[in-house]
Formats: sequence, structure tokens, C-alpha cells
Amino acid sequence: MKSFEKKVLCIGAGYVGGPTMAMIAAKCPQYEVTVVDIDERRIAAWQSDTLPIYEPGLLDVVKIARGRNLFFSTDIDEGIRHADIIFVSVNTPTKTFGDGAGRAADLQYWEKTARNIVAAAESDKIIVEKSTLPVRTAKAMGRILNANDKGIRFEVVSNPEFLAEGTAVADLENPDRVLIGSRETEPGLAARKEIVDIYANWVPAARIITSNVWSAELSKLVANAFLAQRISSINSISALCEKTKANVAEVAHAIGMDSRIGPKFLNASVGFGGSCFKKDILNLVYICENYGLYEVAQYWENVVRINEYQEQRFVRTMVRVMFNTVADKRIALFGFAFKKDTGDTRESPAIHVAKHLLAERARVVVTDPQALDNAKKDLAGAGGNVEYHEDPYEAARGAHAIAVCTEWQQYVHLDYRRIFDSMEKPAFIFDGRNILNHKELYETGFSVFPIGRTALKHF
Ligand code: NAD
Ligand code: UGA
Repeated sequence: MKSFEKKVLCIGAGYVGGPTMAMIAAKCPQYEVTVVDIDERRIAAWQSDTLPIYEPGLLDVVKIARGRNLFFSTDIDEGIRHADIIFVSVNTPTKTFGDGAGRAADLQYWEKTARNIVAAAESDKIIVEKSTLPVRTAKAMGRILNANDKGIRFEVVSNPEFLAEGTAVADLENPDRVLIGSRETEPGLAARKEIVDIYANWVPAARIITSNVWSAELSKLVANAFLAQRISSINSISALCEKTKANVAEVAHAIGMDSRIGPKFLNASVGFGGSCFKKDILNLVYICENYGLYEVAQYWENVVRINEYQEQRFVRTMVRVMFNTVADKRIALFGFAFKKDTGDTRESPAIHVAKHLLAERARVVVTDPQALDNAKKDLAGAGGNVEYHEDPYEAARGAHAIAVCTEWQQYVHLDYRRIFDSMEKPAFIFDGRNILNHKELYETGFSVFPIGRTALKHF
């Protein structure tokens, strides 16, 4: 049997664990990489050609290494025993109960994993925090892990993940930076080097940065907070643009050309979604409050409030301009994923839009190229009249309005003349992503309501 240079395990085969380990295995054939999870169906899917997550280019990366040095398994204990380095990439959702409910991170999955590691391990190991965690979690984890009577030592290292869904493969292959934080002790620095060495197989040295463990943990929360803050900032301005006939895209372009501001992440939208922005900001808010930093907490909390405001503003505009009633009107949601090129719908603004419209007793039709299964789960308990169609033309047939909730490129290139002809009149389009050609749509006969731009109305 081939002997590998390092034996790497990842606990948690989700959106982060699966792609990250696939990339490490593809780039480092000399390492054995095993990914384990309690979810048998997920593991079976990773072993098949129908991966459990939709991510462009991912199957090709998996196929390079699977069966060679990349393995998926449900035998967590065996994986722990066998590994030198254990990445933990389990979920860290917002707590829904007890102190900190709705804000703090729920660390139960992390702690269970840590206890699992202690119980199964028979030798010293490096434990890598891949999940996003509150600052100073490594301390608690170190305590739990090292309170064992087997004489085994665990060194906890923080290596937060910055990939974005939909571009995970490119982000992993060519990251802006890889961040590795450790204790600044001899064993801490030795563990840090082990993790640096993994990434050094394909990431240029200048992009692998190291820090103390608290800075690494905190940087992850702060990166997401800053990214989300940019979106809330431009979204807040989109509301003002609609009142003043300024065009938010022109404003974003003008400010983004200032090299100090930069052009990225300034697309006004129906709101940001995804599993992490809201959760990580609320976690940051909770941590600040715990340290008595109430003004700081409030500052960041407003990023989330503006996002909620933007989602509400979008759907309230729909109801208002459709003559203050959408009851029994058919409304097609174009896109349900929280962004293009993913099937993930966690915290998708489309969920809010759909539920609000259902509460107004509209008949909601959802179309999405990748996210219909998740959409069905999200709206299962919502009641009301919901239909699902893969084909956007079918979704729009007989509809009073279309609301673009996800910026899928295929929606840009549809035959909107054909769609217009099949709809009730007056026909409305609410472009929550500003991806469509508004002038052309208006000329076709639609009344068009973009974000942060003057509406084009036929009445
Ligand atoms: P996910 O829910 O897709 O995957 C987590 C996996 O962990 C699940 O498959 C679950 O079954 C498994 N799991 C939970 N408890 C377990 C246990 N005790 N033993 C074994 N497996 C267990 O989550 P995700 O989106 O991959 O996120 C994971 C972490 O990475 C989170 O902390 C998140 O904040 C962070 N993160 C996510 C992204 C992203 O794009 N989704 C990006 C950067 C960081
Ligand atoms: C985000 C970060 O970009 C990643 O760096 C981070 O690792 C990840 O969160 C995480 O910690 O989970 P992700 O949520 O996958 O990645 O996707 P983004 O591209 O950041 O988009 C988030 C949301 O913001 C989407 O709903 C997107 O449509 C929206 N968005 C983004 C805008 O509305 N406008 C923009 O200009 C950019």
C-alpha cells in the first residue's frame, strides 16, 4: 500500500469541507485526504457523479483525486485515529435557543466534534478551525481537547475559509490570501508551519499570511462584515436614487473608480443572502455586546437592518405599484438561489419575497435552474399557493409580474417578447438584480421597476 506524506482528515462534508479538501487532494497527490460526515446521503453523493452541492467546475476537481488520494467516508472514528491533521468544517449556525438566541453562534456541532476527536484519537494531532467561529473559540477548544487522560496533545490552529459559493473552485485555486493563525509558542508555530506547507503546494508564498490565532478568527468575521457592509451601503443609496432620479449603477461606477473605494461588491440588489453574512455579523454584534462595546455592536447590526429594509422595500414596492393588491395575482420569481451559479438558498432574499407575497395571498411561481429542491423545502410550511417550474417561460405564462431575485445569466437572454405576450396586462417586471435591459423591456410593453433607478412605467 502507498504511504502518504501527510494524512489529512476533514470533518464536515458541506459547501466548505468538500470543495476545500478536493482542491487540497487535487494539488497534493502526496497527501491522503479523507472527508467524513454524519450525513450518509451527503457522503454517498460525494462518492457519485451527482455531488451534493452545485458548484461550477467542482466535479472535475473531485475526479482528479477521488479514489487516488481523496476519500469520502462516514467512519468518523477511524478517520480521526488515522489522521495527523484534522480540519473541522462543521456548520456553525446562529443559535436559536437560550442566551444569545438569534445572534450568537451555535457551537454545539463544533464541541461535539471536539469531544469525538478526544474520544477516538490515539496520538497527537493538529486541529484546524475551518468553520467560522467566534474569536477566542480556539481557547475553549484547546481546553476541551487537552483535558484528556490519554497523554495526547492537540494544537488548535485557525485557518478560516474565504471562498464564495458559485466561484469556489477559482477561489480555492487562486485565493487572494490564505490565513493561518496559531499560538506563538514552539508547538503552535510548528503546527502553523505544517498548515502553511499544505497550501504552499500551489499558493504563492506572499499570499499565505500568518497571524496569532485570535487575529485569524476575528479576521474572518470582519471580512464578511466589511463585504456585507458595502452591499448595505450601496443598497441604502439605491433607496435615495429612486427618490432623486440618480442611477445607482452610475453612482457605484463613479465612486468605485476611486482606487481607495474600488469597484467590487457595489451591485445594488434585493438584498444579500447566503448562509454566512447575516450569521457572522450577528455573531460579531453579540461578541461586541459581551465586551460592553454597545456602540460598535449597533454600528454593525445596522448592516443587517438595512438588508432587511431592502428586502421589504423591494416587495412593498411590488404590492404598491400593482395597485395595492396582489391577492390572487400570479407572480413569477425568476431565481430562488441566494446568488447565481449555486443551488444554495440559505437566507436567500427570494425566501422573504415569496413569503411576503404569499402573506398578501398572491399565487407565487418559482423558477430556478439549480435551486428548486431547496426552494420547495424553504416554502414547505409557508402555506398558500406556490408552483415550481424549471422553465421560466412556463413560470411567466399568465403571470401579472416577474420578480428577478437571482442574477442567473440565462434570465438576461430570454425572449421577453414571447414572455410579454403570454402574461396578463399590464405586465410588470421588478428587477431585483438590475441584470435586464430595462429600456428594451419597456419598449416591449413591460412596466419596469429596477433597484436604485427610475422606473419605466406605461401609466
Ligand atoms: P454545511 O452545513 O454545508 O456543512 C457542514 C457539514 O457538517 C454538514 O454536512 C453536517 O452534516 C456536518 N456535521 C455537523 N456536525 C457534525 C459532526 N459532529 N460530525 C461530522 N459531521 C458533522 O456548512 P458549510 O456551508 O460548509 O459551512 C461550514 C462552516 O464554514 C461554517 O462555519 C461556515 O460559516 C463556514 N464558511 C462557509 C462558507 C460557504 O460558502 N458556505 C464559506 C466560508 C466559511
Ligand atoms: C461570502 C464571502 O464573499 C466569502 O468570502 C465568504 O467566505 C463567505 O461569504 C462565507 O463566509 O460564507 P457567499 O455568501 O458565498 O460568500 O457569496 P457572495 O458573493 O459574497 O454573495 C453574498 C450575497 O451578496 C449574495 O446574495 C449576493 O447576490 C449579494 N451581493 C454580492 C450583492 O447583492 N451585491 C454585490 O455587489 C455582491
